Amino acid sequence: LRKVIFDTDPGVDDAMALLFLHHAPEVELAGITTTFGNGTIDQTTFNALYIAERFGIAAPVARGAGAPLVGAAMAPPDFVHGRNALGDVALPAQLRARADPRPAYRFIIDAVRAAPHEISIVAVGRMTNLALTLREEPGIASLVKEIVVMGGAFGIAGVQGNVTPAAEANIIGDPEAADEIAAADWPITFVGLDVTQKTRMSTDFLADLAEKSGESGHFVWDISRFYEAFHQAGGVSSIYVHDSSAVAYFLKPELFTTRSGAIRVSTDGITRGMTVQKPDTLSYPPGAWDGRPSHRVCTSVDSDGLLDLYRSTL
Ligand code: BDR
Ligand code: CA
Repeated sequence: LRKVIFDTDPGVDDAMALLFLHHAPEVELAGITTTFGNGTIDQTTFNALYIAERFGIAAPVARGAGAPLVGAAMAPPDFVHGRNALGDVALPAQLRARADPRPAYRFIIDAVRAAPHEISIVAVGRMTNLALTLREEPGIASLVKEIVVMGGAFGIAGVQGNVTPAAEANIIGDPEAADEIAAADWPITFVGLDVTQKTRMSTDFLADLAEKSGESGHFVWDISRFYEAFHQAGGVSSIYVHDSSAVAYFLKPELFTTRSGAIRVSTDGITRGMTVQKPDTLSYPPGAWDGRPSHRVCTSVDSDGLLDLYRSTL
């Protein structure tokens, strides 16, 4: 089994991605770590515990950061994910499940130390927990098997940010953290808007899940009503597949093409949160990319293959 920690801010598409991992037969979910983002840290941690309890997911849930490394958190995007970040479906007032006593970064360090070179991390929220992990124990980077990040917009075929023209939500939510994790020498693949906006789930696709994928399919249908309405109000008829694209990369990287190179994240001015890669194949005068490790950025995706994988897994 392939061990993975899912770092997440559930979140409609986060919840869909968590169920994708949960149902993947080759995966052992070693933990769920939460971050602020689509909701406050209280809300996203509650939502992660709720999904774990409802779907019998045995992995511990460890509560993560409630604010970025620098400054205050942006207001949660309730117009995208609803006020409770799960599309405003009814949630119980209380849960039996409890969070792990450790903060997310400590949970990650302990898990990786206990199984060196075996644990991958799929990170689909702000990068704050990963940055805190590195700050606490820089040596951990060499012990993590692989990191897959949903985040960034790398300008492939003109794709721009979704919060500003320069920046994608997970990165602008904590640009300092994103720049720190990209500076570290651990193998990261960025699954950015360049590919996540290329794959869409239509109403028919979601209705088919509701019909054929049991409890998980019903839940995905229910939570995606609000999210779908947000997309449709913006003139996009079917929903973008953000966080599940990162899971799909983890499960089946051959669905994607990638490009290698050093990555910087802008922390200044109008480009704050912008992700920029210097492809290994290009050379420039000495600059901000020098001495940084190469990471992969997804440049294209087999969307039909990805949707088939999601459907068959659920
Ligand atoms: C990312 O931002 C969040 O709203 C989604 O869950 C996804 O991780 C897309 O920009
Ligand atoms: Ca997310």
